[in-house]
Amino acid sequence: MSPEPKGINVHELLAMKERGERIVCLTCYDALFARLLDESGVDILLVGDSVNEVLAGAESTLSATLEQMIYHTRIVRRGTSRALVVCDLPFLSYQISREEAIRNAGRAMAETGCHAVKLEGGKPMAQTVRALVDVGIPVMGHLGLTPQSVHALGGHRVQGRDEKTAERLKEDAKALEDAGAFAIVLELVPAPLASQITKSLTIPTIGIGAGPACDGQVLVLHDMLGLNDKFAAKFVKRYAALAEDVREAVRLYAAEVREGRYPGPEHSFPK
Ligand code: KIV
Repeated sequence: MSPEPKGINVHELLAMKERGERIVCLTCYDALFARLLDESGVDILLVGDSVNEVLAGAESTLSATLEQMIYHTRIVRRGTSRALVVCDLPFLSYQISREEAIRNAGRAMAETGCHAVKLEGGKPMAQTVRALVDVGIPVMGHLGLTPQSVHALGGHRVQGRDEKTAERLKEDAKALEDAGAFAIVLELVPAPLASQITKSLTIPTIGIGAGPACDGQVLVLHDMLGLNDKFAAKFVKRYAALAEDVREAVRLYAAEVREGRYPGPEHSFPK
């Protein structure tokens, strides 16, 4: 028998919450960045359906396909040895029926080697979460601004600002926990509400635009690296300015090629 792989698993994430240790999560879409993030100690690599916007240039996540998610998750998994890899289930791959949810989430697990899947929605998705958990598929929930419902929600708005929607979010979180989800992403939720939800659950919350009290944080990698410098939501902190670094490097390369300064003798083969 091969030894148990040494890496983050869903039980370790629960233990981290119990110990009060913050969970570090970033989105990741390829093997190269997966290796860099894994080596830097990121706990969860989320292969988000945001790949459809960030890399494929689409306007929303709605047109992401299961094939696309399987491809990106498989290559992320190749670059990962410690982090937990989560595959985002795309729009309509889990909402139609529990059978389809099991078939599609099962494909994602079997064909990519990921450790868990993520899906959006609260109470209405609880039975689907339970069905997946019952066949051995760990599920991460996603509440608040759920991008697959962006049009129904009227845009990228903070969720849970009034009492009624705040109550609903609390109930949704409890329903996902009761259904067996191992963690919940809280996106664009007022910090005090995210704090209340976090305290009310035994499973960790992973915040994005949900304040500092969540058990962990997630950002879109290309936003926090400043690779996408067109627009940044209020909650994004840029830890680097790579878009400008890329432009500068490419301008220098282009100038050297045009002026015949690259390649130099040190880059050439005399024989
Ligand atoms: O698709 C994604 O990248 C996500 C995160 C922003 C949470 O769902």
